[in-house]
Amino acid sequence: MPYNKLFAAFLGLGLCFCAQAQDVYTVNTRQIKATISPTLWGLFFEDINRGADGGLYAEMVENTSFDFPKPFMGWSTQPARVRTGMFMVINQSQANMADPKFLRVNLISGDKVGLINEGFGGMGFVKGGKYEGMIRYRNASGGGVGNGLAGGGMLLPEVAAPSVVVQLVNAKGSVGEAMVNLAGSDTAWREVTFSITATDTASLGKLLVGFKGPGQIDIDRISLFPSDTWKGRPRGLRVDLAQKLADLHPGFLRFPGGCIVEGKDISHRYQWKKTIGPLENRQLIMSIWNDDVPLRQTPDYFESFGLGFYEYFQLCEDIGAAPLPILNCGLSCQFDAAEVVPIDQLDPYVKDALDLIEFANGDATTTMWGAKRAALGHPAPFNMKFLGVGNENWGPQYAERLDVFSKAIKQRYPYMQLICSSGYTPQKQEFQYIDSVLRSRHVDIIDEHFYNPAEWFLQNATRYDKYDRQGPKIFVGEYAAQSDRIGSLKNENNLRMALAEAAFMTGLERNADVVTMASYAPLFAHVSGWQWTPDLIWFDNTRSYATPNYYVQQLFSVNKGTAVVPMLTGAVGGAGGIPVTGQDSCWGTACLDQPKGELIVKLVNMSDKAKSRVVMSDGKLGRTAAVTVLAGNAPGAMNSLEHPEVLAPVTKQVDVKGKEVRLELPAYSCVVVRVKVG
Ligand code: AHR
Repeated sequence: MPYNKLFAAFLGLGLCFCAQAQDVYTVNTRQIKATISPTLWGLFFEDINRGADGGLYAEMVENTSFDFPKPFMGWSTQPARVRTGMFMVINQSQANMADPKFLRVNLISGDKVGLINEGFGGMGFVKGGKYEGMIRYRNASGGGVGNGLAGGGMLLPEVAAPSVVVQLVNAKGSVGEAMVNLAGSDTAWREVTFSITATDTASLGKLLVGFKGPGQIDIDRISLFPSDTWKGRPRGLRVDLAQKLADLHPGFLRFPGGCIVEGKDISHRYQWKKTIGPLENRQLIMSIWNDDVPLRQTPDYFESFGLGFYEYFQLCEDIGAAPLPILNCGLSCQFDAAEVVPIDQLDPYVKDALDLIEFANGDATTTMWGAKRAALGHPAPFNMKFLGVGNENWGPQYAERLDVFSKAIKQRYPYMQLICSSGYTPQKQEFQYIDSVLRSRHVDIIDEHFYNPAEWFLQNATRYDKYDRQGPKIFVGEYAAQSDRIGSLKNENNLRMALAEAAFMTGLERNADVVTMASYAPLFAHVSGWQWTPDLIWFDNTRSYATPNYYVQQLFSVNKGTAVVPMLTGAVGGAGGIPVTGQDSCWGTACLDQPKGELIVKLVNMSDKAKSRVVMSDGKLGRTAAVTVLAGNAPGAMNSLEHPEVLAPVTKQVDVKGKEVRLELPAYSCVVVRVKVG
């Protein structure tokens, strides 16, 4: 029986909330210590671990456009060896860098040949599920490769196209098919769509596109999506994964990373303008994660940018998250190529930032980028207020580039809050330099990253108690407890790591006057396509599951509150109480949800023993409290695709006596209490 169900049964027996020799925590609901930013708990998204292509972006075909450096990567043919000239990849990169390659199919009478795509390590179909396909094609112009490559609607003699049948295939054979008519008598590219309902399920399915001669055709793209996409948007996002983001109620969504912002070198940096508009204008690049992790090489990992900046802003709007884009500041990864753009050549980089703000917020009728946004279907602004300048950059090179960006952005958009990098970890000496520079410049927000052992997170629940209350705000932009070590492939998303993060997060909430944003990283991982552990949400081609770390994020986010109030050890009236920061292996914090008139208490028990606690308020409380518990029977417990809810929160109503809530914190647990005040 999953532990959460056992625990629910335990609550049902009413055994949990019994008063024994209990420790007391006192909450003073009238003493507001800090206002909690609505953006406190947010999300970090990066296309790592197949987070976008092969993940959230629901395209099921890998290398849809034959534009990978090896144009048949992701594809195979049936039969395996085909006659020379039957398939020919035309590379027109001199004429079209964004969409350089297409496939010419050239068949004589009697030829029967198939193109097979296995998606991202196998395609997933669900019995009864509908799938929407698209082929972008044009008349092959009847001649050799010299003819018709300029395109553009030139009228040509009618050339017969091969007949085409598309099939979804599982281990048993075809599980659905459609005939596709590639008609057209000119050289203009056009799209034909088809729908197939799967008659069986597959986790390692394939798409088979069968051609029968005679005929010739040029094919630029073959695509397949589930018809059920997030918000019903054609060729959009995977519903289960997008829903998991929405269920976190994030205050912000950081995008697009992460290291992919920096790129392997400057030319490889993320460029947002290349990610909007028609797919054929979005030039794919090799993912930085393709070969970055020697033991987890993913040679077929490319970024198609099907999930580009417009889709990103839409997603933010859908899930109520403030957009927080991070842009390259003229520095590539300082560990890798360490390329630096000369200061006097930074203009295009700064312009990209200014144009992005205009794309997000500009008037649809008077600004060029605002008009582009409107043309894509969103006349209203996206209301972007945050912008990150550089990811994990540091040193004087960063400081001087940041100055250039800050001046230009603040001059034109004084309301824009800039997120400034403090490097890859505050534990290295580089941090001291950049942190003091950023503080002397009075920047808006400093981004700190932590990939550390659980013990570090426990000890650092007090980290921000010591920060300057008048200084820049802090964005804990990337963090995750490492059960092994950073970069290890053995890190686990286990309960102990999740609880260590929860303990740390009590410290972030208690210091909400300084810390205004925080996000776990990385967000997604494909079970067979990952490069980095641990990760918040894991998935395969049809299923996904939330880790205990996810549930911790959710517990904090949906119980964010609006104002921090003190919760100290000891009874009301007792002197010398201190914040609950590890005494007897417990961590805790308290806040108010002022619009709802509720007190919210969060407690973490890291020990292997249950702990009895009394939370005493200075004022009267409601008669019942909602108590949500995330707990497990072992610190190493984890969820999985097969057992997704071994660890999941369970909520029960419990009786409250006057000003006291009596709790029994199970071993290894995170407990959230919500109760009316006054
Ligand atoms: O989250 C994984 C990586 O860790 C990010 O890409 C980078 O910013 C950090 O070093």
